[in-house]
Amino acid sequence: MQNNINKFPDGFLWGGAVAANQCEGAYNEDGKGLSTQDIAPRGIMGAITEEPTEDNMKLIGIDFYHRYKEDIKLFAEMGFKTFRTSIAWSRIFPNGDDVEPNEKGLQFYDNLFDECLKYGIEPLVTISHYETPLELSKNYDGWVNRKLIGFFENYARTIFTRYKNKVKYWLTFNEINSATHFPYMSAGIWTPKEQLSKQDLYQAMHHELVASALAVKIGHEINPEFKIGCMVLGIPNYPLTPKPSDVLKAMEQDRVNLFFGDVHARGEYPRYMNRFFKENNIEIKMEPGDKEILKHTVDFISFSYYMSACATGDPEKDIRGKGNLIGGVPNPYLKASDWGWQIDPQGLRYILNQFYDRYQKPLFIVENGLGAFDELITDENGNKTVNDDYRIQYLNDHLVQVAEAIEDGVELWGYTTWGCIDLVSASTAELRKRYGFIYVDRHDDGTGTLERYKKKSFYWYKEVISTNGKSLINNN
Ligand code: BG6
Repeated sequence: MQNNINKFPDGFLWGGAVAANQCEGAYNEDGKGLSTQDIAPRGIMGAITEEPTEDNMKLIGIDFYHRYKEDIKLFAEMGFKTFRTSIAWSRIFPNGDDVEPNEKGLQFYDNLFDECLKYGIEPLVTISHYETPLELSKNYDGWVNRKLIGFFENYARTIFTRYKNKVKYWLTFNEINSATHFPYMSAGIWTPKEQLSKQDLYQAMHHELVASALAVKIGHEINPEFKIGCMVLGIPNYPLTPKPSDVLKAMEQDRVNLFFGDVHARGEYPRYMNRFFKENNIEIKMEPGDKEILKHTVDFISFSYYMSACATGDPEKDIRGKGNLIGGVPNPYLKASDWGWQIDPQGLRYILNQFYDRYQKPLFIVENGLGAFDELITDENGNKTVNDDYRIQYLNDHLVQVAEAIEDGVELWGYTTWGCIDLVSASTAELRKRYGFIYVDRHDDGTGTLERYKKKSFYWYKEVISTNGKSLINNN
């Protein structure tokens, strides 16, 4: 049944998203330093190595560093209005604490943004997406050390100044809340998670929150037109049953994540954290001026959404399933993806409303998509392609719920699907987990030509964009 969905506002920013470390490759070219990802060949699933190793798929990625022109041309063909990528911090400051930036790194992003702008594609840039310079991790213990605020400030100031006429939309830290679960990947913390105290973890988070607010402040000084947002991993928690203890547990688990958006949007720590800090013997060390810096709130809230989860106050039932880094208790009413992430389109409408009710700031969905096994086939015209109807259905159903949320009154600036071109996954560092509209011929054993092929979903998304969402089908 076609419902003629006519809810997306004019100027809605349709597009796709990637991160430097998952697609660029060229891990040691043109003066780039190592990042935490270059020695993590299994993502969060395995140990880090002493040096980069050949089995680390991210070292070559999909070779976006050399093929970005071809790829952006394909994005333009789909009609992208925006393209989200990140800047690899270690391309700009190879060790993180260098005083002078690496000109070749800066030039690469100049070329990349120029290529986007050539097609009228607005760059949406994440400043730090799981790619802390390795030296900052090893020598300073990542964000545990307050000195990182200064290094980050220098980095942010450098890129804001350099790209002030090319980039308008910025995100500070990717999925900042994930650091409480994966401190190495998300916050470059070298101390193993089992040995990391809650005190140090939340102190590190304080440093990131101050750095993020500082970036908002200096960004607006450099160009008042900048729109600077935070980025949180969105995963709403439903009570497993209507039992009051389950409802309260869901509230508590939501707050573990909402805390980060709360500080970014309201400019101060929420009062509910006082109890959490007290019960966990955490005392955040604030320096004079920190509270004032935090007052520089973001212009918008961006988030990733792949799944919802359930929460229960009953320890015997609190058995966590698989999921996007954080996960939760599986919902008996939902099916899951090939990787066990539960699929819940209505959860996206729910979280959009939750964020908007809470903050009354514009929202931006900067990640949503289906990681699946794809089979490359040859069609009747002799073209290689993938019949990814499952991906089309996933995205269609989520976008129908986005339209509902807009109708609910949510102010939404845009939507970028995750991994608009196949890339290396973050959690498992695999290539066989594919998200893209564009198939990349590269495999986990290192084979493949790196050729690009358009999937069926490529043409589907092109139609969605050109009709501003009117081609979506409401199956409910
Ligand atoms: C988000 C990250 O957690 O989810 C991305 O911001 C990541 O970097 C995406 O790729 C999907 O997760 P995965 O593990 O399937 O790559």
